Amino acid sequence: MENQAPERKPRVFSAIQPSGSVTLGNYLGALKNWAALQDDYDCIFALADLHTITVRQEPAKLRHNTLEAYALLLAIGIDPQRSPFFLQSHVPAHSQLAWVLDCYTQFGELQRMTQFKDKSKKHADNINAGLFTYPSLMAADILLYQANFVPIGEDQTQHLELTRNIAERFNNSYSPTFTLPQALVRKEGKRIMSLQDPSHKMSKSDENVNGCVYVLDKPDDIMRKFKRAITDSEASVHYGEGKNGINNLMDIYSCTTGEDYATIEHDFAGKGYGDFKAAVGEAVIEHLRPIQERFAQYSGDKAYLEKCWNDGAEKAAHIANRTLQKVMKKVGFVL
Ligand code: TRP
Repeated sequence: MENQAPERKPRVFSAIQPSGSVTLGNYLGALKNWAALQDDYDCIFALADLHTITVRQEPAKLRHNTLEAYALLLAIGIDPQRSPFFLQSHVPAHSQLAWVLDCYTQFGELQRMTQFKDKSKKHADNINAGLFTYPSLMAADILLYQANFVPIGEDQTQHLELTRNIAERFNNSYSPTFTLPQALVRKEGKRIMSLQDPSHKMSKSDENVNGCVYVLDKPDDIMRKFKRAITDSEASVHYGEGKNGINNLMDIYSCTTGEDYATIEHDFAGKGYGDFKAAVGEAVIEHLRPIQERFAQYSGDKAYLEKCWNDGAEKAAHIANRTLQKVMKKVGFVL
């Protein structure tokens, strides 16, 4: 049959905070997957800039990080024609719905969030109300778009669980309003560990600069970091228990070349760790090269970036405002 309405794909929403340089761990663990999701889902992506000010930001740096993250995500393959991609602060509905949801979120629920507990320890001099209500803003992000799925890392599952509880509570108090979102567990993509302490996640806050690789690192720096990666004393490239360092390098190699573990073990049989580390460094450099080239193009074209995020905000606001209107009507605000 012709002229049949195309079937609506399930909707995915996700966001990241533009709070610093994007790490190889962010990329392989999550962002690479965002680009792939665009084929199977109706995707909406945002930079969660409102969330960043729950910890102090230097204004010029926040602006710089936001531009950089936006250009980098385009370089990674987010297609702003297909997937609205915007800055959270450009769509006021996020803040507006967050306030309403705050009033449907219990103090005790927020108090139980492990991220709140961790961050209040880390920033003991600035335990602000925004840090506390961070999850209801995140709930607003997701619920505004009636997202079916949210690709998230393990550290955000508790926030997504709370989002579902808030949505359910609201739906039960009034009538079905919000779609209950589910976590989208990634098919591929790994938790990438620090190169210096492979029992910990790769992180910008790693004390040792060689522990964390950034997507925009220069090839020489990438190679240096891989050559210095901590391994073990066995000197045999295979995946196994107690071999966190090698397992991590195999994961990185596998994610950047597409080779499986068996092939890697076969190809590096009889070779030392030195050869393998250099090969992983090379694989990462080659994988990132086209991304870095595209990044250089996009980040040099501010007019294009502005056009993309303005378009994205317009499309996003159109969807978000429909949900917000329903909510305002149901709670009894005069429209
Ligand atoms: N809290 C998320 C993080 O720090 C970022 C985020 C904000 C987010 N809003 C979201 C993730 C909505 C998924 C959906 O990683």
